[in-house]
Amino acid sequence: MSLMRKKSVQGMLEFAQTAKGLRKELTAFDLTMLGIGAIIGTGIFVLTGTGATVAGPGLVLSFVIGALACGFAALCYAEFAAMLPISGSTYTYAYATLGELVAWIIGWDLMLEYLLASSAVSVGWSGYFQSLLGGFGIHLPDALTAAAGAAPGKDTIFNLPAFAIAMLITALLAFGIKESKRVNNIVVLIKVAVVLMFIAIGVWHVKPVNWSPALPYGMNGVFHGAAIVFFSFLGFDAVTCAAEEVKDPARDIPKGVIWSLAICSLLYVIVSAIMTGIVPYAQFAGIDHPVSLALQVAKLDWFAGFVDLGAILGMLTVILVMTYGQTRILFAMSRDGLLPKIFSEVNPKYGTPYKATWLIGTIIALIAGFIPLHTLAELVNIGTLAAFSLIAIAIIKLRKTEPNLPRKFLCPGVPYVPALAVIFCVFLMAQLSMLTWLCFVVWLVIGLVVYFGYSRKNSHLHKQA
Ligand code: ALA
Repeated sequence: MSLMRKKSVQGMLEFAQTAKGLRKELTAFDLTMLGIGAIIGTGIFVLTGTGATVAGPGLVLSFVIGALACGFAALCYAEFAAMLPISGSTYTYAYATLGELVAWIIGWDLMLEYLLASSAVSVGWSGYFQSLLGGFGIHLPDALTAAAGAAPGKDTIFNLPAFAIAMLITALLAFGIKESKRVNNIVVLIKVAVVLMFIAIGVWHVKPVNWSPALPYGMNGVFHGAAIVFFSFLGFDAVTCAAEEVKDPARDIPKGVIWSLAICSLLYVIVSAIMTGIVPYAQFAGIDHPVSLALQVAKLDWFAGFVDLGAILGMLTVILVMTYGQTRILFAMSRDGLLPKIFSEVNPKYGTPYKATWLIGTIIALIAGFIPLHTLAELVNIGTLAAFSLIAIAIIKLRKTEPNLPRKFLCPGVPYVPALAVIFCVFLMAQLSMLTWLCFVVWLVIGLVVYFGYSRKNSHLHKQA
């Protein structure tokens, strides 16, 4: 039974009410901006190239499928976040409602999402950065441009720019830079402006002939593409990490989650239609800066340089928010005794989990240096899809077991909408490669070993009992 032990919802709500230090000043608008800041990044600026290679012009449908999977999951997130506006995201929700073991598994899965997404986006950033340097005639030695095997035909070993940017962001977080609302808002405006300009200018260069055949690899290609570009939607869930700093969380978090996802989904569908309309899909093979490639094909080189800059700047906030999210989830798990104390030790001078941030940041940077983007993105996707499925199942279960908990936002159409979320997520998981599945299973097994070897005995709930 101890596997099912739960934290008390009432106790957590009281703790959040009385927790000192965090100023409650974020509004629904700020949260939407935070979400967009974490969503638009490597997915749209880099992975659309791979997506177009496997799906052809059907990439548009891949994005629609990804948006539906995330949309159903987002409605479930919104119900949870409004019910328990406490930081720690889904790990915390699960601890209060489904018990310790499920919470542990979700926290462990989320590590795949946040930690590896930070590495993946650093790799994406590196591609654009090198393309920008190339514009000035600067080229790194091949060995330092990418992980081994990431660029066929080149002798690559280590992705130095990806490693360096991940370490830089880690330093910022460790020394206590707050994700400043203003900086984020400015970067988001630049990102969205770049995307809107791409749409406004690119649309005049579309050649409809490039859209046929629409589905060169049939629906299988579309589904495979969806499983890849799913990555581009992640980040809307990071909105829930800010729960304790929101003025009216029950009302505003659902709005932030849903609006940021809806706006980005619309932009993605239009951008992918235009990209595949400008460039014959086969030309995207092996390209790590597909959006600016489309502009180069349209002979808009000046604008391609501008997009490179927007992408470089825009991806920084994604790395920042994802790395921040990772340290804070580990913080919550460590505060509950499930992980060693080092993860929740706050440095009195900087006011941050200093040691943990350096530890995690260095791991993120090394992974970014040594593992290719595609492998990382698939792992992120499988971990996140698994966490989303569990959350959706939890919503159905809780409506039955805890019908009286006050819910300020109701996911519509329960149990059908959460059931659709599970079906879409599991379906997308099934599209991922065997290797990804193998890594995922190994990861889960390690997680269970850690839980039964350490966390279960050291859990504060266990000690209280
Ligand atoms: N959605 C984020 C990105 O595409 C993780 O970079």
